[in-house]
Amino acid sequence: MTMIRTETLTGDLVERPRRLRTSPVLRGLVRETRLHPDQFVAPLFVEAGFDVKREISSMPGQYRWSPDRIAEAIDPLLAVGVRSVILFGIPEEKDPIGSDSFHEHGIVQQGLRALRERFPELFLITDVCLCEYTDHGHCGVLDGDRVLNDETLPLLQRQVLSHVDAGADMVAPSGMMDGTIGALREALDAEGHTEVGIMSYAVKYASAYYGPFRAAAESAPQRGDRRGYQMDPANAREALREARLDAEQGADILMVKPALAYLDVIRSVRESFDLPVAAYNVSGEYSMIKTAAAAGLIDGRAVMMETLTSIRRAGADVILTYFAREAAEVLRHG
Ligand code: PBG
Ligand code: ZN
Repeated sequence: MTMIRTETLTGDLVERPRRLRTSPVLRGLVRETRLHPDQFVAPLFVEAGFDVKREISSMPGQYRWSPDRIAEAIDPLLAVGVRSVILFGIPEEKDPIGSDSFHEHGIVQQGLRALRERFPELFLITDVCLCEYTDHGHCGVLDGDRVLNDETLPLLQRQVLSHVDAGADMVAPSGMMDGTIGALREALDAEGHTEVGIMSYAVKYASAYYGPFRAAAESAPQRGDRRGYQMDPANAREALREARLDAEQGADILMVKPALAYLDVIRSVRESFDLPVAAYNVSGEYSMIKTAAAAGLIDGRAVMMETLTSIRRAGADVILTYFAREAAEVLRHG
């Protein structure tokens, strides 16, 4: 008769993983994944106007700032070691081609100038897209209901050049138009901006997790949806194709977005490319944690740290997250 070995009956277990979990010091010693404020990029919203600091109702704890006050958002970030931000704009006026997005005095350009002057060391990234600036809310120009690809690229080229003129260090195109990275690299290089990097939203899914952001940026499409240009959430192989194209066209950082429902995709992009990988911990992921914590259902701080750790563990080098300040604060002061 064979003996069934159970833990209570054996004094001779060879492998006891619990041995490495016996104290905080030992757990720290063998911890595989760490978070650091250097890895965070904080998204910021600039809106047209004066003396505005308006809490975004769909994203508790996040604000829309007018250019004259946006600097107030920076000191609390720098105080905990977050030195990179990505700017989004909400313009005064929208039109069919999103003119404010490439205007010298556009809303993001104003925000950039305000920050560049005050914080020379701050790393300034800009989101490059049309959807916040078009009256129809799509990420490209329209012909009827069709979102035109190639006709959108020159507008994005103008947008990045005006961002760089206003002080941007890196540009992050998020519109999922084919050929964007090549077109932007060409425009930047032609103007001598060879040192300005491109963080590509290379793998961006048509996700319902963007809901709170669209409410914040007033950028939901008026008609239709984004499934004609953003990726189908069911596709993983296609992510590698998108990433490859952007790497070939000169992307410096490859982003996967959203993060949490796509950890497998982050992992496979990490393993397939030697570029740094960024992940966008998007608005829906943020607001779900915030509202569940406010309702007393979860420990918000712990879930925040666990979530960010999971994104790093999946393979992201960089995390764009609305939690940047809070998480850096926990890392710094416990
Ligand atoms: C614009 C853009 C979006 C986000 C970042 N850039 C919205 C969208 O594609 O509809 C989403 C960010 C978030 O949800 O936090 N193209
Ligand atoms: Zn867009």
